[in-house]
Amino acid sequence: MSTEGSAVDTLTIEEAAAELERLAKEIAHHDALYHGKDRPEISDADYDALKRRNDTLEARFPELIREDSPSRRVGAAPSVTFSPVVHARPMLSLDNTFSQEDVQDFVASVYRFLGRLPDQSIAFTAEPKIDGLSMSIRYENGRLVTAATRGDGTTGENVTANIRTIAEIPNQLPKGVPAVVEVRGEVYMAKSDFLALNRQMEAEGKQTYVNPRNTAAGSLRQLDAKVTASRKLKFFAYAWGEMSEMPEDTQFGMVQTFKEWGFPVNPLMKRLNSVADILAHYDEIGLERPDLDYDIDGVVYKVDSLELQQRLGFRSRSPRWATAHKFPAEQAFTEVEKIEIQVGRTGALTPVARLKPITVGGVVVTNATLHNEDYIKGIGNSGERIRPEEHDIREGDTVIVQRAGDVIPQILDVVMEKRLAEAKPYEFPKTCPVCGSHAVREVNEKTGKMDSVRRCTGGFICRAQATEHLKHFVSRNAFDIEGLGSKQIDFFFENEDPSLQIRTAPEIFTLEKRQQSSLTKLENIDGFGKVSVGKLYTAINERRSIALHRFIYALGIRHVGETTAKLLARSYGTYEAFATAMKEAAPLSGEAWTDLNAIEGIGEVVARAMVEFYKEPRNIEVIGRLLEEVTPAEAEQLVTSGSPVAGKTVVFTGSLEKFTRDEAKARAESLGAKVAGSVSKKTDFVVAGPGAGSKLDKARELGVQTMDEDEWLALIGG
Ligand code: IVH
Repeated sequence: MSTEGSAVDTLTIEEAAAELERLAKEIAHHDALYHGKDRPEISDADYDALKRRNDTLEARFPELIREDSPSRRVGAAPSVTFSPVVHARPMLSLDNTFSQEDVQDFVASVYRFLGRLPDQSIAFTAEPKIDGLSMSIRYENGRLVTAATRGDGTTGENVTANIRTIAEIPNQLPKGVPAVVEVRGEVYMAKSDFLALNRQMEAEGKQTYVNPRNTAAGSLRQLDAKVTASRKLKFFAYAWGEMSEMPEDTQFGMVQTFKEWGFPVNPLMKRLNSVADILAHYDEIGLERPDLDYDIDGVVYKVDSLELQQRLGFRSRSPRWATAHKFPAEQAFTEVEKIEIQVGRTGALTPVARLKPITVGGVVVTNATLHNEDYIKGIGNSGERIRPEEHDIREGDTVIVQRAGDVIPQILDVVMEKRLAEAKPYEFPKTCPVCGSHAVREVNEKTGKMDSVRRCTGGFICRAQATEHLKHFVSRNAFDIEGLGSKQIDFFFENEDPSLQIRTAPEIFTLEKRQQSSLTKLENIDGFGKVSVGKLYTAINERRSIALHRFIYALGIRHVGETTAKLLARSYGTYEAFATAMKEAAPLSGEAWTDLNAIEGIGEVVARAMVEFYKEPRNIEVIGRLLEEVTPAEAEQLVTSGSPVAGKTVVFTGSLEKFTRDEAKARAESLGAKVAGSVSKKTDFVVAGPGAGSKLDKARELGVQTMDEDEWLALIGG
């Protein structure tokens, strides 16, 4: 529902928030056109009217002022035109740990993975986790050549000109450094500089900034490097990307080297030998935290030996050799104004608490997820009590809200003394609030337990499910179609004109053609315009060929996230092979079903969900139409060049003596092999240690090549 144009004083807080969001996006869009491309779509007067409306709304609802508000922007518009940089080595994130037990588990998992005994001590480093922006800075022959943001981990933005303005970062490294050096670390703004900047903004009658991190981010994303230069950004080096030569063989040694090369490194980094010492250092850093001139949100532990780091390797997004021990989240009190239900892509009814806006840890919080109806009652996912029975969450309750990092705010508890006499327990709807279909809690076939999530049974007839499906389809990790956001999907979905309607994914790709023969032109419709329509078609057409894993992920099969989609793409290679296998697996037995379940990382729940998906005629029909428009590419093999086991399927069985099972698996995968849990005709090698039994027999029966650990090592080159 649009509130555009309605008088500011009649808007509710939710409407105002939505309107401010819309204005921020719209003004940013016009700024980009104006500054970046010299091709404005609206008159100056219309642009000023948008800005004025934003200002009036902010004056009435100061608590709703957004971090990306147009009124906060200084200098050139934040640009969308930084060029992409593909990182030579991906920039990964860290796993989080929250308690002493988590840290003990982490350390134990390192010992277990490496097959070490507790008395074969492994050293760890412990250092503050800086709350800034990670940056990769590349030097060739000692000269700074590129600096890139993390981006999605694979591709970042080229912010070299801005990074050069940071005095602490050397432009030239000393003589004798390796030919290629990529130093990684955190760019941040000191608390004192942040406060000074805000004092200056206040004195000039301008809006102040929310926190140092966001200000640092905004300062870096300036097209005009002069603005960045005026912001006094700082840097800590703590990691590296590509290095043509390694100067040291420990984490600690590497960071000391960076220091010698002229980079600032954090003085609180220590090398320690036991969990007790690590935890003591965490406490120490926690005590110093208020006095540090930079924000930190935890302590990072890393295995010190680079050889061990290499053996430990990576999971899909994070290294096994490091973890971030987060400080406890910040909390605040506020009121639940309303409980609303959102219907998701899979029909899940998710309750959301609309809160009286409150600042928690420097950010305004207005919503908190309530997960499901049990959670509202104080019952956790395994049926356990998470709050006393009478602490159910009701509209009007005063609650404790917690926000940890980028996680969605949570309601921890209800303040019973403040409960209103008339407050009633929340009655969870039994029908879908969008389409009216029954909403049910399914019983899990395997466990016999009732699912905690209530789902709308409307399927495709439910507008919420259908539009969420489309939004997932165009989202960043799926088809990533720029210009088709949530608002546009809603518009096309609701449209009754056949030349403008999009109800299923294939229709995205027929839009341009349908428009050619239509009199109702998209470009004449408010909010589109000739330029943006042209761009939209380009963005759509660019996706007519697409990576297989993105295609599979975009289908929105339940339980199939990005990681699973990648596994499937790697295992089956082509879409045809994948789809055929899913159809053949329908009886939940036979070769196709066995192969599917043998893929490491695919469990039975996921396997069943895929088979179910391919049993639904409507899905087959939609995919059929989609394939007339779009071609999924063949999946690429991983790091394979020169690897003798690339693309091969390996099964490990029996006890291994040279490395642990996890390590063997990780190593094989890093060489491009697939590791399966059971032997079938598709298996290429079975590596059998002492005590191997039925799997070895099966391999012999099927004529699959078998070998012992040493032969395997010889094959992969040690
Ligand atoms: S190590 C492969 N060390 O935290 C892991 N990261 O959640 C490389 N961060 O993206 C990261 N302080 O931006 C590392 N001392 C520190 C850090 C740190 C802050 C950030 C970094 C990273 C994120 C991971």
